[in-house]
Amino acid sequence: MCGIVAATAARNIVPVLIEGLLKLEYRGYDSAGLALLNPTLTRLRSVGRVAELAAQAEGQVAHHGIAHTRWATHGVPSERNAHPHVSAGLAVVHNGIIENYAELKQELIAAGYAFTSDTDTEVIAHLIQETLKSSADLFEAVQRSTARLIGAYAIAVLREWDETIVVARHGAPLLLGLGQGEDGGNYAASDASALLQVTRRMIYLEEGDVAELRRDAIRIVGAGGTAVERPAHESTLSADDVELGEYTHYMQKEIFEQPQALAATLELIGGAQAISPNLFGVAAPEMLGGVRSVLVLACGTSFHAGLVARYWIEQLAGIPCSVEIASEYRYRASVPNPEQLVVAISQSGETADTLASIKHAKAQGMGRTLAICNVPESAIVRECALRFLTRAGPEIGVASTKAFTTQLAALFLLAVTLAKQSGRLAPEQETSYLAALRHLPVAVQKVLALEDAIKAWAERFADKQHALFLGRGHHYPIALEGALKLKEISYIHAEGYPAGELKHGPLALVDKNMPVISIAPNDALLEKLKSNLKEVAARGGELYVFADADSVVDEEPGVHILRLPEHYGLLSPVLHVVPLQLLSYHVALVKGTDVDKPRNLAKSVTVE
Ligand code: G6P
Repeated sequence: MCGIVAATAARNIVPVLIEGLLKLEYRGYDSAGLALLNPTLTRLRSVGRVAELAAQAEGQVAHHGIAHTRWATHGVPSERNAHPHVSAGLAVVHNGIIENYAELKQELIAAGYAFTSDTDTEVIAHLIQETLKSSADLFEAVQRSTARLIGAYAIAVLREWDETIVVARHGAPLLLGLGQGEDGGNYAASDASALLQVTRRMIYLEEGDVAELRRDAIRIVGAGGTAVERPAHESTLSADDVELGEYTHYMQKEIFEQPQALAATLELIGGAQAISPNLFGVAAPEMLGGVRSVLVLACGTSFHAGLVARYWIEQLAGIPCSVEIASEYRYRASVPNPEQLVVAISQSGETADTLASIKHAKAQGMGRTLAICNVPESAIVRECALRFLTRAGPEIGVASTKAFTTQLAALFLLAVTLAKQSGRLAPEQETSYLAALRHLPVAVQKVLALEDAIKAWAERFADKQHALFLGRGHHYPIALEGALKLKEISYIHAEGYPAGELKHGPLALVDKNMPVISIAPNDALLEKLKSNLKEVAARGGELYVFADADSVVDEEPGVHILRLPEHYGLLSPVLHVVPLQLLSYHVALVKGTDVDKPRNLAKSVTVE
């Protein structure tokens, strides 16, 4: 979603802004823009890629500037709706949604302001301008104006003849970068990847913070209105983590990084002989003890990880587990259970609905909260009492891959921990689960070797309009995830179904034009699944089966089979999702879509 970069420094900051926007491209956007001080305001905007904005900005030199990638919410993607929005020499970039913008807009129109865009952001620019009539100080004007905003925002504000940039956040991510070395300067951005080019020292702003950036100083005032000190962190992100390196696409890189990502995530169990609840935080032994039910809240791919976890938690720990889409849970009248463990799963830690759903659960008295997240210091991590940080590294491709498999590893550890706490885990089982987890990176590496065969299959999908994914048991959520991957990046309509449900509807769609992808691990449900596959074959459907080395299923006309090297028991979903990721990636390549930045989608959905 929208990305912000702001910079004030002795050096020319135009290349810093452009490089920062390029690093934020992955969040998803449809237009871009920047405002520079020279000392009057220059605004450049363009629809489409940051590269176009960069071409416009060629030759510009400035020491203060703000920049933005926009993902349209209010108003179509167009130059007039692109940020920054200006009000007489003052420029604003914004990430989030201002819910009371219509009412503020009426007020500002009555006060004589003319609007030139359809955005909610323009209201902020005029509101600050109006406030400046009664307080000449930009910082104070931003404080007073943001106090009137209802909704979510991260903003950066710049005005002519002023050497400061003022930023503020409430409900949308924003961090500061403290310049180092001779060039110094101070910076702000939506995430750390945009600022690694200039600094590793970052300050995560808290909800309600307003900060002033000068070349050589910063000051932060908290929600309470008094000056606050926020700790600076040394970012451990490496610039290489966010570079493509030898790969063509981030999604491809991230699929192939899964063995390392899993190994890094599982480093936490090291050579341990036993699983400790401390993996989830110091308060975990007490908080997880006595947990009698689990509620998982998440969106998108993270929701699918939660669905797999339900099978594991119920089977291993014998504890009921429900999994809800965060945007539904936050608004429905559910029955609160203060003893329940509430687990938020999120790659980014910033997904607005997941964050709001956790706040909603807490407001209902549910204080046993656990974040499973890939971004330390993110809003969701900070909101939860317990945390497990996956170590997938930055995930740039919009379609989530390595975040998903590392979430699964974390959730399996949770299921085993809960089983242990419930007295349902025999020591030999614990040892064998630990061994299976440790072998997981190697097992995934072997699955990646199927790429060439999957590439050949992908050719046959390119002209298809629809596809059906089937799975059973804990592979049913993997069928859902396979369908999501395909639709996200190849724009082929795809649905995931539990195979047993086939004859209750989707069978009506099956013909030779509808490829049916089936996950057929060698487990207790294989024979049942085979009957479902016969139903497809009998209707002329073309079957693509991902089986295990020892699954007894045979290739025949209309039935194509690829075998994963080993059967992986309970952790098999971690392996079986990998060929589905590769399939959608290669179908997208054949179709020539924008793999890493699929149309209309965003990586971090920071608005509702
Ligand atoms: C967006 C992304 C998905 C992701 C979902 C949830 O839709 O495109 O890849 O699964 O948000 O994001 P989260 O960061 O909370 O896991």
